[in-house]
Amino acid sequence: MPPQYQDLSQFHVPPGFRGRPAWIVQLWWIVEAVFFRNSPQALYGWRAFLLRCFGAKIGKRVIIRPSASVTYPWKLSIGDYSWIGDDVVLYSLANIRIGSHSVVSQRSYLCAGSHDINDIRFTITGQPIEIGDQCWIASDVFVCPGVKIGHATVVGARSTVTSDLPPAVIAFGSPAKPVRDRRPAMSAKD
Ligand SMILES: CC(C)(COP(=O)(O)OP(=O)(O)OC[C@H]1O[C@@H](n2cnc3c(N)ncnc32)[C@H](O)[C@@H]1OP(=O)(O)O)[C@@H](O)C(=O)NCCC(=O)NCCS
Repeated sequence: MPPQYQDLSQFHVPPGFRGRPAWIVQLWWIVEAVFFRNSPQALYGWRAFLLRCFGAKIGKRVIIRPSASVTYPWKLSIGDYSWIGDDVVLYSLANIRIGSHSVVSQRSYLCAGSHDINDIRFTITGQPIEIGDQCWIASDVFVCPGVKIGHATVVGARSTVTSDLPPAVIAFGSPAKPVRDRRPAMSAKD
């Protein structure tokens, strides 16, 4: 018999992994499909309300596009004034924390879940993601499980963030590496 690496007949979600009963997960996915995704773009408060009903911590004046998706809202926290763009996936199998005044641009994927590739059962795992305040995660960025991105850091388009990034740098590439410091912004003139 050839060596075996994964046997999906043995796969199961570990007890308590979801953080809520399976029926609440299903209910959220129905609410998301019907009321969240079909809501007019301008109804940012409505989508924040729906997420809060399912346990998310959403700050004031947070902008989340209707095409964004959240796997487990009770594991999501977003600070004041932050933006979540079109087609962003917040795959919150573990906690995802996004600070205040931060932007996650379109098609980015924050992936807080994985599988144990050394376990025949291919056990599902979760590791939290933290994005600091005043960050910009540009378009189509993949953020791996367990990654922390420091305060005010910018991650360039199409990057893959496989390990922590320090505060206040511009980083890009696959894997993303800091290439220079981010200069503090001038005060607004008007
Ligand atoms: C990271 C970013 C902000 C840097 O902008 P910048 O400081 O103006 O950088 P530059 O365009 O001057 O590029 C500097 C160098 O970095 C490289 N570079 C810039 N962004 C890169 C990226 N995302 N991936 C790989 N290389 C990148 C450039 O090719 C250039 O290389 P070179 O010096 O060898 O020519 C920008 O490139 C970026 O990714 N913006 C995101 C845009 C976006 O997602 N928009 C949609 C949401 S509104």
